[in-house]
Amino acid sequence: MAASAHGFAPHVRCPPPAVSLAPMMDRTDIHFRVFLRCISRRTLLYTEMVTAAAVLHGKRPRLLARHDSESPVALQLGGDDPAMLAEAAAVGVEHGFDEINLNVGCPSDRVQSGNFGACLMLQPERVAACVTAMRAAVAAPVPVTVKHRIGVDEFDDYDHMRRFVDVVAEAGADRFSVHARKAWLSGLSPKQNRTIPPLRPEEIYRLKRERPDLPIEINGGIRDLDAAKEHLRHVDAVMIGRAAWDIPYLFAAVDHECFGAPDQAPSRLQVLERYLHYAVPALAACGRPVPVLRPVLNLYAGEPGNRAFKRTMSELCQALARPNAPPVAASVLAAAAATEGIRARASAAPRLPVNQS
Ligand SMILES: Cc1cc2nc3c(=O)[nH]c(=O)nc-3n(C[C@H](O)[C@H](O)[C@H](O)COP(=O)(O)O)c2cc1C
Repeated sequence: MAASAHGFAPHVRCPPPAVSLAPMMDRTDIHFRVFLRCISRRTLLYTEMVTAAAVLHGKRPRLLARHDSESPVALQLGGDDPAMLAEAAAVGVEHGFDEINLNVGCPSDRVQSGNFGACLMLQPERVAACVTAMRAAVAAPVPVTVKHRIGVDEFDDYDHMRRFVDVVAEAGADRFSVHARKAWLSGLSPKQNRTIPPLRPEEIYRLKRERPDLPIEINGGIRDLDAAKEHLRHVDAVMIGRAAWDIPYLFAAVDHECFGAPDQAPSRLQVLERYLHYAVPALAACGRPVPVLRPVLNLYAGEPGNRAFKRTMSELCQALARPNAPPVAASVLAAAAATEGIRARASAAPRLPVNQS
């Protein structure tokens, strides 16, 4: 088979899903992913980053916990050792993950001290070796993908990123998810590195224009579906992180508006009913209400009654930790019904004319 126009290895790449949930440590655990799946059936979900060493030597049932309803779900790995990453990728596939992703975007000190995350943007050949090994360990059609930044430190010009992408694409990476900010490897915390460097989406659009055969996903600062749809005019997919946590219900319209599916958006009550099918047994199994119920806290974000709903959920978590706990499902649904009442009253209330004095 001949190489492609840019000299990439002939490799059949899977079409990317239009929207994904970004990997987020302490956020995109199994509970939040299942909750998001109750809102959108098509969004690709990412796990939190798990290091290859943890997969190989740690407690797999906890680290690789996955629920059947989640698919499609990608396991994000951290590491810089091709053999370890390859073995961890194979273990991930054995555990049912639908995609394996390599983290080349995290700038934390801990991650840098292990020579992985964003500092690997300075070592494209090493990333290529990792991807080659992972690709060989994971049978098609499971994609092996890379999440990275537009640059790090002073190596942040467009040509530097394109060279990184070219080298890693040659190794067989199936998709590039690009955070449209550079990262400073010292001087900024990971949180500051998600806000202070400016967003530069045009460089990702240019990458897609110049490498049209590579599936390219944009990430960073996407807070609503209008912004997502605008990006989708230029690239193949959008990845949403913090807004998914802050306003999860924005995913209710994703299947229809971004994937073109006929599916109706579920109501918030339907979302909760679906989630409770999972949450009630999950809570009985783990015995800790907070991790299982915290995904629902922001379901009414931006809506009348949001604050009362959150307070009731927090009180419920405390009550569930005590003897004679109330029934979970009935309590959650009662709180939601009360919130729906507040919303209905707010929308029925007469609006004052704008200029009334
Ligand atoms: C709490 C938190 C944890 C994160 N953990 C990870 C992670 O494990 N792996 C990763 O690649 N990115 C991680 N990120 C970065 C996000 O995936 C994403 O790139 C970033 O938040 C920008 O997207 P957003 O503006 O839509 O939030 C994390 C972000 C947050 C807020």
